[in-house]
This record gives sequence, C-alpha cells and structure tokens, in this order.
Amino acid sequence: SRALKPVAAVAAQNGAKNFSTSSQRNFKVVVAGASGGIGQPLALLIKQNPLVTRLALYDIAPVTPGVAVDLSHMDTPAAVTGHKGPEELSAAIKDADVVVIPAGVPRKPGMTRDDLFNTNASIVRDMAASIAKNAPKAIVAIITNPVNSMVPIASEVLKKAGVYDPNRVLGVTTLDVVRAATFIGEINGVDPRTVQIPVIGGHSGVTIIPLLSQSQPAVKLTDQGKIEALTKRIQEAGTEVVKAKAGGGSATLSMAHAGARLTGSVLRGLNGESNVIECAYVKSSLTEATYFANPLVLGKNGVEKNLGYGKLNAYEQGLLKAAIPELLKNIKTGEDFAKK
Ligand code: NAD
Ligand code: LMR
Repeated sequence: SRALKPVAAVAAQNGAKNFSTSSQRNFKVVVAGASGGIGQPLALLIKQNPLVTRLALYDIAPVTPGVAVDLSHMDTPAAVTGHKGPEELSAAIKDADVVVIPAGVPRKPGMTRDDLFNTNASIVRDMAASIAKNAPKAIVAIITNPVNSMVPIASEVLKKAGVYDPNRVLGVTTLDVVRAATFIGEINGVDPRTVQIPVIGGHSGVTIIPLLSQSQPAVKLTDQGKIEALTKRIQEAGTEVVKAKAGGGSATLSMAHAGARLTGSVLRGLNGESNVIECAYVKSSLTEATYFANPLVLGKNGVEKNLGYGKLNAYEQGLLKAAIPELLKNIKTGEDFAKK
C-alpha cells in the first residue's frame, strides 16, 4: 500500500470502491423519527451510503442532536445534522431529495397495526405538510404503521397543498420481501440474497401476499399445506417479533436493514441507474384498491414504471381476493382522517 497515491491509499484504507464521481449527484436524505428503535440503526446504515452527502436527523426526542454528533464522527461523506422538535422540522426537511419516515409508536403484544392509527396519523400528516412546504419534490418513504393507511394520509395532505406526485410517495414493504427471501433461503439451503420474491398487496396480516409461485429460485416445497404455512409465517412475521420482544416493541434492526435497502434503491434510481426494482405500496390502478404494493422500477423521478404482479395461481388469487376489502377499509380510514 506504500506505493499507492495518497487519495487511493485513503480510499483503500477505508474500504471504499474506486468510483467515478463525475455523473454522481449529491443527495440529501432525512430520517424523520431518527432517534427511535428503527431510526438510529437506519441512520447508521444510510450514513454509510456514498450517494448521501447530507443526512438530516429529525425527532422529538431530546437525544437527537447527540445522535447526530455521534454519527457525524463516522468517516463517510455525509454531513450529519440533528433537528429536535417541531420548531426545527422545516430546517430538517428543507430541500431534501428523500424523506424516510419511521416516526411513531410501535405495537405491543395483542395489538394490531391498525391500533396505532390514532397516534401515528397526525404524526405522518404533520410530516407530509412540512414536506409539501419545504421539499415538495422529495421522494417520501413511509415506514410508520399502519402503512396501508399512512400512505393515503400523506398523499391527501400533499394533494391539498397542490404538490402531490403519486410517483414520489412510497409505503415501505421491503421488510416483507426481506423476510420472504430469508425464509425461502432457509428452506432451499441457499444464500437469501440470491432469492427474488415479489410480495404484493399491503403491509398488514392478510394484505401481505407473497407470490411464492414466482420465487426465483423456485421454493423447494411441493406440499400445498407447507406453502400455506410459509405464506402465513411471512404474513405474521411482524407479530412473531412483537411477541418475542414481549412488550419491548416491534422489528427495528431488520426494518432498518430493509429501510436502508429501499432508500439505497431510491437513491440509485435518482442517480440515473437503470433497472432498479423494488416492491413498495403506491397509488395504483391495478386492482380495486387505489393503493397497492408490487414490483416497481425506480428512476430519476421516483416510480418510473409499475411492473404489475404477473400471473397468480389459484391459491394466490384467493389471497388477493381476501386482501382487497381490508385494503379498501384501510385506505378509506386514512383518506377520511386527512379530509377532517
Ligand atoms: P420507537 O418508539 O422506537 O421510535 C419511534 C420514534 O419516533 C421515537 O424516537 C419518537 O421520539 C419518534 N417520534 C414520535 N413522535 C414523533 C413526531 N411527532 N415527530 C418526530 N418523531 C417522533 O418505534 P420504532 O420501533 O422505531 O417504530 C416506528 C414505527 O415504524 C412504528 O409505527 C412501527 O409500527 C413502524 N414499523 C414499520 C415497519 C414496516 O415494515 N413498515 C416495520 C417495523 C416497524
Ligand atoms: C413489522 O412487520 O415488523 C412491522 O410492521 C411492525 C409490526 O407491528 O409488526
């Protein structure tokens, strides 16, 4: 390494790739709810993304400026700022390219995601109002539950402000995809990163529809009972974590991993990379449900193309049929709240 020029030596020492920066844009990412169980590890992972030059952390928790100082000592390009409380929200959101929202309360055992609606609805509404004012072109990625209702709320708020672009508002369902790939990897005895599996619908119970018939590689299960058990496990995986944490919250670390993956894909799309595909819950005309999750191509303006969901087998058609009324109900709850 003594023969390397100084810059290359530093890059090598830091484990950085030798990439060209000429075509690379600089992006500002905001994590709203940055001091929580998801927010802190999510911010840690996003700080490691070389496409991010500004990382703004927003939360109502007093520790937030400290979390920002802590992360700011990491030797990666993003400059980190901390913003605490509503009076500092505008500064956090100002000119953001991407706003990721994990702000809000999580489930305890015995609760459904819908039980979080009353507390979390106004949090997401206020975030969306600030985004409309301070970063109307930002891509908004909503982690806060219930996702099925929060995306319609944010969309209505942006619509009222006259800045709504359906291609820029995503409900984060990546954790469902991550879980499905993990469980299939275990069953097939392969590295889960090599598994491609669409999960469509929404992000709660029966609305989570893993399309196991489309898994690549094919799931090594021939028995329909086992396919159904795997489907149920993916649908109930969030509850599996809630029960295991026994009152200490819901998935945070796996969610941070999934949220960082989705954020990274959004940024790659914004940066002009082609063929960036992720599932997310977006405005949709594929089914009766006006919001729906399925594979999307992400590009320079958010969702570039909706890839639909392909061919479903009879079992999956039944799952879709069961999901639609629940999605319609969740969407209406969100829209009614936003209209109040
Ligand atoms: P947490 O309680 O650990 O953290 C939430 C954070 O939000 C806290 O730091 C809190 O101070 C902050 N907050 C609360 N009100 C705020 C406001 N008005 N403005 C800014 N910040 C505010 O909870 P968590 O485990 O990080 O979960 C957060 C949310 O993510 C929950 O609603 C949970 O259900 C959801 N979640 C979604 C998925 C998914 O797949 N989409 C997965 C896991 C969790
Ligand atoms: C999850 O799927 O883990 C999250 O939606 C959190 C929860 O409440 O299950």
